[in-house]
Amino acid sequence: MDFSDIAAEYEKHAIVQKSASEKLLKLLNIGDNDDVLDLGCGTGSLARKIRGITKGKVVGVDPSPLMIKEAIEKSIGLEITYEVISAEEVSYKERFDVIVCNSAFQWFRDPRKALRNCYEALRYGGRIGIQAPARNNYCPNFIRAVEAVREDERTRDTFLYFKNPWFFLESEDEYKKLFEDAGFRVTFSVIEKVVSRHTPEEVLKIFMSGAAAGYLNQKYYNVKISGEYIDAFVNIVKESFEKQAENDGMVKLEFNRLYLIGVKEGGK
Ligand SMILES: C[S@@+](CC[C@H](N)C(=O)[O-])C[C@H]1O[C@@H](n2cnc3c(N)ncnc32)[C@H](O)[C@@H]1O
Repeated sequence: MDFSDIAAEYEKHAIVQKSASEKLLKLLNIGDNDDVLDLGCGTGSLARKIRGITKGKVVGVDPSPLMIKEAIEKSIGLEITYEVISAEEVSYKERFDVIVCNSAFQWFRDPRKALRNCYEALRYGGRIGIQAPARNNYCPNFIRAVEAVREDERTRDTFLYFKNPWFFLESEDEYKKLFEDAGFRVTFSVIEKVVSRHTPEEVLKIFMSGAAAGYLNQKYYNVKISGEYIDAFVNIVKESFEKQAENDGMVKLEFNRLYLIGVKEGGK
């Protein structure tokens, strides 16, 4: 399972990614004529929103062909350009005023290379805004559920071969340094605890719209994963979310989220 499997259903359940993106857009304050790149655009919901803000160019890139297919279908009649390419591969030169990256940075295989590409892609005075889950304990609810997978006899032997694909740092300062090393001046860097309340079924859907593309992706295991393993995994996390519900039946879902703005200064 990867983002291509998730593409068709993604927007219905990407509640947490969507609410976090609203704050990111406020921080970025996109201007009327800004040219904007949506990096790791997924199905393009943010790119479409940005289309309504600026008269400039709007470009969305993502390495998942099915995410881009979905984005193109949903953007018919809108002037948005999409391309299947990863953040590590883009090679724009001073083409954008703003780069937006919502809930995608944690997936980058080589964040340093991606940031150098972003620096190149921006005009002087341009800015990049990132929103992404942060810290290894990025969502205590998901970590607790996955601990149950690690211990359950149906899944523990295979789960030993899972290699975490995500890039997380533990503090605002570590993220700040990463961006400064790529040339940016960081004007904002905060990790905040974002809490929302959902039914256990909703929490499972939120898990399946993002984290599952890691935990249940053959690419991140050194052994073949079976259909039974995937079914057992989903059942175990589902039960854990049910157990995490409070008296009113709702789960208090917590995410540690990074918001960072970096500026490319200098130039003519
Ligand atoms: C949780 S989705 C977020 C999509 C969208 N930005 C949103 O806010 O709904 C994460 C996206 O990151 C993309 N992604 C994974 N690795 C990437 C990379 N190396 N470069 C760019 N995007 C990547 C995935 O294909 C997926 O569409």
